[in-house]
Amino acid sequence: MEQRLIAGTDLRVSPLCLGTMLFGSPVQEKEAVKIVHLALEQGVNFIDTANMYEGYTRYVGSPGGVTEEILGKAMGGKREQAVLASKVGMKIGPGTGDEGLSREHIRRECERSLVRLATDWLDLYYMHKPDESTPIAESIETFAELIQAGKVRHWALSNFRAGQVREVLQVCDDGGWPRPVAHQPPYSLLNREIEAELLPLCRDENIAVVPYQILQGGLLSGKYGDPAAPPAGTRGSDKPEWIAMLRDEEALRELDALGARAKEVGLSLFDYAIRTTVNTPGITSIILGVRRVQQLEQAISALS
Ligand SMILES: NC(=O)c1ccc[n+]([C@@H]2O[C@H](COP(=O)([O-])OP(=O)(O)OC[C@H]3O[C@@H](n4cnc5c(N)ncnc54)[C@H](OP(=O)(O)O)[C@@H]3O)[C@@H](O)[C@H]2O)c1
Repeated sequence: MEQRLIAGTDLRVSPLCLGTMLFGSPVQEKEAVKIVHLALEQGVNFIDTANMYEGYTRYVGSPGGVTEEILGKAMGGKREQAVLASKVGMKIGPGTGDEGLSREHIRRECERSLVRLATDWLDLYYMHKPDESTPIAESIETFAELIQAGKVRHWALSNFRAGQVREVLQVCDDGGWPRPVAHQPPYSLLNREIEAELLPLCRDENIAVVPYQILQGGLLSGKYGDPAAPPAGTRGSDKPEWIAMLRDEEALRELDALGARAKEVGLSLFDYAIRTTVNTPGITSIILGVRRVQQLEQAISALS
């Protein structure tokens, strides 16, 4: 598999990044281990997780940690092969200190993630979302400390708007702190908002864009022929609230149009979505969530 360099680092990542949010439920540990091993064998070396992930059992304020623990076991003995990313900032407990980007919370959560992942370092550590209640300089300084301590190699942003990214870059430059090297926004053929401002900004600033929800939760896989009757064993039937566009008529019309365009160029909608997204200028690697080994195989084959 091809590798792409994250500018300003020595991190070479596959254009496909393995999303692990479903590890725990519905992806049980045994299947998760198979998925991680297949990914590494096939050169999919970029793995994305977060302290909050625990699959379908997640609710706002649930403790998280399940996915990282499974991933830690799955990577046993193979850690060196992976470019491993985790995140901090979402609510992971009942207390007011159990979320956000304060110094205490970042330090505590980084330690917990390292223990669960059974590793001494994270290659990439994301601010999962902006935290209005903490001065951004405090958060950036804490990430810089983690880098200095060797616990984190580089840091990154997720879910920050273009204006917020500009502010972060200014604060980094003013404080002499390392800049974020990557940004993880939502992006798919059904949600192209970042093309207006964020993507050009990241291109100009040499920030790698690593989008999530590139299949819009599975909608762009082509399996929702009748969105009103999602096939059994899919997110559309198990967790429909996680695919809001299943009930959005405009999005469903766009989905039909994309299906027709894919057919015109002789591709399945799944292959068309994967290839178009991964080849968008400025995109370094696309994160894909998979429920089973076969879905990862299909994505690898779509890219080859
Ligand atoms: N930074 C953030 O705030 C944020 C937020 C959300 C996610 N993420 C990251 O992005 C990753 C992906 O997110 P996501 O899972 O919500 O979105 P996604 O990648 O757009 O959708 C994944 C779903 O697509 C379906 N799929 C994948 N391959 C398929 C195939 N070959 N054939 C048919 N269906 C296929 C599966 O649905 P079924 O389950 O129906 O089989 C799978 O669960 C997460 O694991 C996480 O790492 C980050």
